[in-house]
Amino acid sequence: MEAEPRELDREDFWAACAAPAVEALAACATPEDVERVRVRFLGRQSPLSLALRRLRDLPDERRRQAGLLGNRTRTALEEALRAREGELSRAAAARRLEAEVVDVTLPGRRPALGHPHPLVTVRREVEAIFASLGFTVADGPEVEGEWYNFEALNMPPDHPAREMHDSFYLDARAGPDEPPGRLLLRTHTSPVQVRYMLGRGGRLPVRIIAPGRVYRRDEDATHSPMFHQVEGLLLGQGVAFSHLKGVLTEFARRLYGPQTEVRLRPSYFPFTEPSAEADVTCAFCGGSGCRTCKGSGWIEILGAGMVHPRVLEAGGYDPERVSGFAFGVGIDRLAMLRYGIPDMRLLFEGDLRFLDQF
Ligand code: PHE
Repeated sequence: MEAEPRELDREDFWAACAAPAVEALAACATPEDVERVRVRFLGRQSPLSLALRRLRDLPDERRRQAGLLGNRTRTALEEALRAREGELSRAAAARRLEAEVVDVTLPGRRPALGHPHPLVTVRREVEAIFASLGFTVADGPEVEGEWYNFEALNMPPDHPAREMHDSFYLDARAGPDEPPGRLLLRTHTSPVQVRYMLGRGGRLPVRIIAPGRVYRRDEDATHSPMFHQVEGLLLGQGVAFSHLKGVLTEFARRLYGPQTEVRLRPSYFPFTEPSAEADVTCAFCGGSGCRTCKGSGWIEILGAGMVHPRVLEAGGYDPERVSGFAFGVGIDRLAMLRYGIPDMRLLFEGDLRFLDQF
């Protein structure tokens, strides 16, 4: 008969089985650590389980007593493990909550909102005014042929007015299906008049505006090598200079206010006859004279005139039957006046410190 293991009867034996587990439990930092302690100290090969298995060999009376001690130890250990595990998972949850906390009372972050460029704002306003007067929007290419940019507009190759338009020429000529000549960056939006007339095939009415970029070799505070114009063209039967003045006055008053006056000064453009330049009452001083209008009380905003018979012919219209007017507005100048911008180049530098002010 095997020596009876007396140790199983002793409370301190069972306490010793549990002690390292209690110590390991104290060192646990996560619920996973606790699970490892459970396997090691309550698993099938743990000293406690082995001791409990040895209870079978004891005689009845002692087995009951020792069993009581052993089972109490196991229950206490299980209890301690559960408690520790609960404690650690609550702590982990609290840490997670802490880390993920969202203060719903904080004000939101505003996304940086963009806005239209001041030139776009002014262009849209101009378009809206003319749309309400029955004009539609047309456009044409920025790389243009000499014929459209000059010749069809009554500026033959040796015409001195070509020098007024210091042009950017390309190293290329118009294609085989186009009127012959060099290609250039258009110096004004007037070639759109010709393109539109030709596309219209002699029909009336013609009532368009054509906003777009134009290019000239010129740069200072009031000139930029790239700038913007809005061309206007209206053709019909019996269209007279008074109609031109009426439309321009309506345009200026809608843009700058009902008190605005329009003054037409005789001028010269090869593609209109008679020609005029239009001034409006200076928006800064109301006409009394200031720095912006150089003391005159007037500011020039556009060129205009009655479409020259040769231009009507080039566009396929009979000057005996059809008349009309055309105008060309510098939108950059309109924007400068509207917003008090002292240097045109500011409009094209893309500097947000400038643009954010609009
Ligand atoms: N094309 C002219 C310019 O660029 C403006 C203009 C257009 C004048 C239409 C008269 C008629 O200066």
